[in-house]
Amino acid sequence: MRSIVKGVGHYVPENVITNADLEKMMDTSDEWIVERTGIHQRRYFTEGKDTTSSMGARAAEMALERAQMKKEEIDLIIFATLSPDYNFPGSGVLMQRQMGLSTIPAFDIRQQCSGFVYGLSMADAYIKSGIYKNILLVGAEVQSNIIDHSNKGRHIAVIFGDGAGAVVISADEKETERGILSIHLHAEGEYAEELVLKHPGSIRKNRMTVDIIENEEHRAHMNGPVVFKHAVSRFMEVINEGLEANNLTPKQIDLLIPHQANLRISEYIQKKMGLNDSQVFNNIQKYGNTTAASIPIALSEAWEQGKVKNGDLLCLAAFGSGFTWGSTFVRW
Ligand code: UT7
Repeated sequence: MRSIVKGVGHYVPENVITNADLEKMMDTSDEWIVERTGIHQRRYFTEGKDTTSSMGARAAEMALERAQMKKEEIDLIIFATLSPDYNFPGSGVLMQRQMGLSTIPAFDIRQQCSGFVYGLSMADAYIKSGIYKNILLVGAEVQSNIIDHSNKGRHIAVIFGDGAGAVVISADEKETERGILSIHLHAEGEYAEELVLKHPGSIRKNRMTVDIIENEEHRAHMNGPVVFKHAVSRFMEVINEGLEANNLTPKQIDLLIPHQANLRISEYIQKKMGLNDSQVFNNIQKYGNTTAASIPIALSEAWEQGKVKNGDLLCLAAFGSGFTWGSTFVRW
């Protein structure tokens, strides 16, 4: 049994925030942001219009249309996000309601930037076990409202953006070449607090207090250099793990789509692996780091641009908060 990516879609909110816009909010510059991250602009959600689940639904509808499938055929939802609409219930059920899907099960999963790759492994396992046949996997984030836009949070504010991406993954009993070839996942909770949003969480008796707000602990915190250092080595390790498992060399990769964490991280991996420009896809320049949404948004745009063709060998790889990381190889 093979798990085939039948369709891919994305949705980004219309509100474009340029580096010049950020210059007006904090002490930063277009030059610094472009040099350190490669990012020129990102999208921010509009309250009352976009939500994590509604953006996920828009992306999912596009993926279904491109898969030429009806929503009634979907039998499982996996929704990857670190920024759900509510603390509970998860965004998966909210998207289910919005899309008018039947009483199929809906997971929310929380592996941050690695959420999409972790979700793919769940989808693949469910398909290979024969339990579900057509799975909607969504990565969606609203992060602009968990960012500290003061000088204190500027290293985070310049990176993150909002958006959603989705894929339809289907079972194919006859296929022998195409589909998900391998998935390798890892986690290392030792570094949980290096990239974290603590509150409102359950560790305090009062989930939201004045001191939490005054100390900006309801905003995301990141130790940028530590995350960067671990990211570059873990990305390399887990991509190599996948290459070895499939008996492949970097030359055979048609397209590497790394989680869009920082253009400098993608460029480092590209150089270390000796890949040429046409073997790596980046769109962080336009959208910033959209966490669980970044890989499916990039996959959708790469597909639109004709850079993902039948028979191509794709590598998707991610690293993020947790720390969590993973890679997958897919024959398209
Ligand atoms: O999604 C997966 C997880 N996330 C990542 O993979 C992100 C990994 N980390 C990074 O990409 C980088 O650490 C950042 C882009 C976030 C930051 O770049 P950096 O080169 O690591 O900067 P830094 O935090 O070490 O700060 C260097 C300097 C500091 O100034 P001093 O102390 O040297 O005078 C900062 O205050 O740059 C300053 N700085 C800024 N200056 C202008 C930090 N942020 C900014 C800013 N504008 N936005």
